[in-house]
Amino acid sequence: MNEKYLLGSPTYLEFSGLELGLDPIDYLALNLPPYCNFRCPKCSTKVRGRKIKDPLCIDEVEKLLEQAKEYGAKVLTISGEGEPLFNKDFFIRLVKAATRLDIHTLFATNGSLLDSEMIDFLKAHRTSFTISLDTLDPAKYELMAGIKNFFQQVMDNIEAVRKAFRDNLRDEKGNMIFRVGIHSILSPLNIAEIGQITDFCADDLYPSSAPLCNSGECNNNEDFFQVNTPDHKMIKDTLGKNFLTVRSKFAGISPQLCGIMQYGLCIGCDGEVLLADHFLESGGLIGNFREIDLLELKRRVDDAFDQFVERFGFSTFCIVRDQNRQKILKILEDMKYVSGV
Ligand SMILES: C[S@@+](CC[C@H](N)C(=O)[O-])C[C@H]1O[C@@H](n2cnc3c(N)ncnc32)[C@H](O)[C@@H]1O
Ligand code: SF4
Repeated sequence: MNEKYLLGSPTYLEFSGLELGLDPIDYLALNLPPYCNFRCPKCSTKVRGRKIKDPLCIDEVEKLLEQAKEYGAKVLTISGEGEPLFNKDFFIRLVKAATRLDIHTLFATNGSLLDSEMIDFLKAHRTSFTISLDTLDPAKYELMAGIKNFFQQVMDNIEAVRKAFRDNLRDEKGNMIFRVGIHSILSPLNIAEIGQITDFCADDLYPSSAPLCNSGECNNNEDFFQVNTPDHKMIKDTLGKNFLTVRSKFAGISPQLCGIMQYGLCIGCDGEVLLADHFLESGGLIGNFREIDLLELKRRVDDAFDQFVERFGFSTFCIVRDQNRQKILKILEDMKYVSGV
């Protein structure tokens, strides 16, 4: 009792009594094109100078949502690439389409574009979200966002959001249900601050954190994050309770795994299926939603995970952070789903 849950998260769905995995797809994780107003050196994707040749258009995304709904999707997550509010019109159409289909949208934002119009829109639709905040120190924030003069804007927006959503806090059987969270990615740069950030969340923002994963831009910044320090090992070892992790279907091997990875299907911004929204290297090995039915794509992903777990187990709660993650790519290559690979 007295737990905290973020609406739409796997942990919340499980708490609310829903058995994940009964339908083929509980989560649809969609990546938007990797465009962003920030330049975080930690970024798990690559937002600098990357052009996507043939991104899904809104009509295709609406079709995707409809198909996913047929297979049981309850939540659309947008937490992979880029800043979702950067292309405001696209985002608004997407959330409207999801809400129309009775699909909840859970997304991550850097918080800089949460103006009052957007806040009103989010309140009026089936959404919940996390705002990324890795430090409360303005100078460190600039370093970690890779951009100047945004700290105060983000803090003001957080204040506006917390005021707007305060009356949306819900008590379910003595537990607090939130629509807005603060998400901090732990690295040696901010591990000492995590207590202060949790205090900052007080009782009206859901506090969450996760360890850094080495992908995208972050791969080029190993020195910056000193990933091999004892601090980093400590962060990796201290996963704690995470709003993503639920009971694992490979219980004997790893008791808790990311619910979106296990019970969802992740689609990249060009329609290619990914093993997880931050696992960009898996794109092009599984198949594209434009050509192949979602059920078949989900079967391919599940087969790859089953083989991977049988051979290598799971060393953490998600594939992107797993020490053997490159080996699942080899498994996919051997499956030869995509010709020419
Ligand atoms: C890539 S961002 C995109 C959404 C938005 N631009 C933001 O920063 O919140 C999605 C989520 O990934 C997290 N993230 C970014 N880089 C990461 C990394 N190297 N390891 C783990 N999570 C990361 C962000 O903190 C955010 O919660
Ligand atoms: S982590 Fe988010 S805000 Fe930072 S560069 Fe990546 S997409 Fe942009």
